[in-house]
Amino acid sequence: MEPIEQHTGKKLCIVGASGKLGRYMVQHALDRGYEVVGVCREKSIPKLADYADRITIIGGQTNDREVIKKAVEGCDAVLTVLVPWGVQDYSSGTARAVIDFAKPDARLIFSCGWHITRDGRDKYSRLLKAQVAFARFMRITRLIDLDDQYRATDLIFNSGTRWTVVRGSDLEEGPSQGLPVWTRHVGDPVLESNMTRRTDFALFMVEAAGNDALVQEAPAIVGCQTPSALAHKQAAA
Ligand SMILES: NC(=O)c1ccc[n+]([C@@H]2O[C@H](COP(=O)([O-])OP(=O)(O)OC[C@H]3O[C@@H](n4cnc5c(N)ncnc54)[C@H](OP(=O)(O)O)[C@@H]3O)[C@@H](O)[C@H]2O)c1
Repeated sequence: MEPIEQHTGKKLCIVGASGKLGRYMVQHALDRGYEVVGVCREKSIPKLADYADRITIIGGQTNDREVIKKAVEGCDAVLTVLVPWGVQDYSSGTARAVIDFAKPDARLIFSCGWHITRDGRDKYSRLLKAQVAFARFMRITRLIDLDDQYRATDLIFNSGTRWTVVRGSDLEEGPSQGLPVWTRHVGDPVLESNMTRRTDFALFMVEAAGNDALVQEAPAIVGCQTPSALAHKQAAA
């Protein structure tokens, strides 16, 4: 196994650290020598108990500007789990706070799904279109506001910051298969398998923090061991 590149002396903030993706990101970031600051809701702090003595934990709503201002101070990278919960602009409020308070040269990495499009050139299956339509309709419950995630990514795309928006496929649990492969557009054959291990989604987010080739890119990712990724690799070879 190759040694893991270390980023000792660099500080990285994870906004949404207590969720499934967030906790994987915490582990990958620690493995890479980052000093880690994690933000999560007060009630979710116990979910980070395993890391309590190794990271700084800041409790609060992620769209609370004061919380984010304190958390991102001095950070070289900020990794944000964008989630469209509720109807109080949770995604866009979080993104705006991160953009406003992170260091101007910080790497800003955001997570979302394939449904987000940067240039409108993604080709979506009928199933995905139906899922998006249903999720949008669910705003009626006031539990979720998918359009707010679109507003958040529009803010990011237009921010002029050193952003990367990582667009995840469907996710599954399981051991790491390695760094996912990516492409600029949903509908590209390499993505056909539409599956990524959640730990590898997190790995891509953390690795993106140290990869300037991904600045102002919106990679759509898929597991590197999926049939479509392997077929693409074989064809390329
Ligand atoms: N699930 C998928 O199949 C899928 C597919 C593609 C992309 N993604 C993307 O992957 C990222 C992570 O999604 P995930 O499904 O894997 O879930 P996850 O990692 O468990 O993250 C969910 C996050 O939402 C927070 N949260 C839950 N309920 C909330 C509420 N009522 N108010 C505020 N915050 C709340 C959680 O914080 P607490 O710990 O405080 O609850 C956690 O930080 C998202 O950006 C999503 O768009 C997911």
